[in-house]
This record gives sequence, structure tokens and C-alpha cells, in this order.
Amino acid sequence: LAMAGVASRRAAEEIILDGRVCVNGEKCTTLGTKVTENDIVSVDGEIVNIETKKYYIMLNKPVGYVTTVSDEEGRPTVMDLVTDISKRLYPVGRLDINTEGLLLMSNDGDFTYKITHPKHKLDKTYEVWVSGNAQPNAIKKLEQGVYIDGKKTYPAKVDVIDHMQKSAVLSITIHEGRNRQVRKMCAAVGFKVMALKRVSEGGLILGNLPLGKWRHLNDNEVKAILGKSEK
Ligand code: URA
Repeated sequence: LAMAGVASRRAAEEIILDGRVCVNGEKCTTLGTKVTENDIVSVDGEIVNIETKKYYIMLNKPVGYVTTVSDEEGRPTVMDLVTDISKRLYPVGRLDINTEGLLLMSNDGDFTYKITHPKHKLDKTYEVWVSGNAQPNAIKKLEQGVYIDGKKTYPAKVDVIDHMQKSAVLSITIHEGRNRQVRKMCAAVGFKVMALKRVSEGGLILGNLPLGKWRHLNDNEVKAILGKSEK
């Protein structure tokens, strides 16, 4: 299902367990069921075609867009920004509504898995505008790990890019992907986040891609992600 671009691997498992999948007309709720090209697979009664061509793009997500395919509250979604590509691509991981920057999108479940599974420990770097005094002590705490939602974060790489009297711009690199992690880490050391932007993920760099625009990844960028070894 992930290869066919129906959903990410994890979401596809849910779809199967929810009893929405039929193989040759029989309901199939067993994860890992093998099919061949002669089998007819459907989701919610619609036949699934395997799309063999894979697409990989990076989007510079603006604030105000949610990283889901559709939103119950009717807010704009990142899908609204990629209407000028004929394939249905899915967000790879998440960025919260108030965060801008690099968001990958693809119809390749393996790529999504490489990027999002915590075991691959891919670095994500954020530029963070904070109000508060960027004392070395607070920076050190962020680097060593802070408790958020009762669990300590893994060590982070933190650099002070710019430093004013009551505000600072930090670069924070983490490999976890906990919910609103950077905002919560900053809050834990007394910083208020005024703006947050993801500038790189898994070695892929946002660069000067304009806000709200997307571009295809090149072959080397795709290979660099798909070739990462299992840890
Ligand atoms: N950390 C956050 O707080 N928000 C994001 O969107 C990503 C990381």
C-alpha cells in the first residue's frame, strides 16, 4: 500500500487493521500478507494500482499550513501548495502549523520509512528565534538533554548564530522527532520561541528555496537517503 502511494507504511498498517483492505474481494486484516501483480487489492472498495515511478520533493512550508493530507478544521494543508504536480505525494514526517521550512514529500514508502523511523537517527536542524537570554548555562542544558513530557531528550547540537541582549538565534540539531520537540526543549530552559524554521533534514538542505515553493530532489539527494544503512 505504501508503494502504491496510498499512505505511509505506518498509516497503511492502520488501514489494514481497520478492515478497509480486500485482496481478491476477501477482507484482509493480516499485516505482511504477500500479493503478486495478479492479485486485486482494494482500499474502501477502490482498486489500488502500483505506481512504480517514485517522486521526491522538498517544500519550503510557510507558517499556517498543516502537514496532513486533509484537515478536519478546514485549515490550509501542505497539499494545497503542491497542486502543480500530477502525482499524489504525502508529507514525510511533520512540521507543526507555526513552523516553517523544509518538508519532504514523496509517494515512496521506503523513503518515508528511512526519514521518519527513529532508528535511522537522521539529523534535523532548526533555526530558532528565541526571546530570553542565551546564557551558556541554558545552551549547555539544551545540548545535554532536558526533560520534556517526562522523558529526557537525547543530546543535541546547539550553536548560537546571533545574540542580542534579550533574544538570540540558535541552530539546534536533533535526531528525535517528538511532538513540538524544539519548542518544548526551549521552554524547558526558559526560552520563548518566536519563530522556528527547519533548514535541513537527513543531510538535505533547504537553501534558498522560496517560501511556499517546492523542488524535486536530485538523484544524488534521493540516493543519499535511500542508501543510508540500517542502524
Ligand atoms: N519541533 C517543533 O517544536 N516543531 C516542529 O514542527 C518541529 C520540531
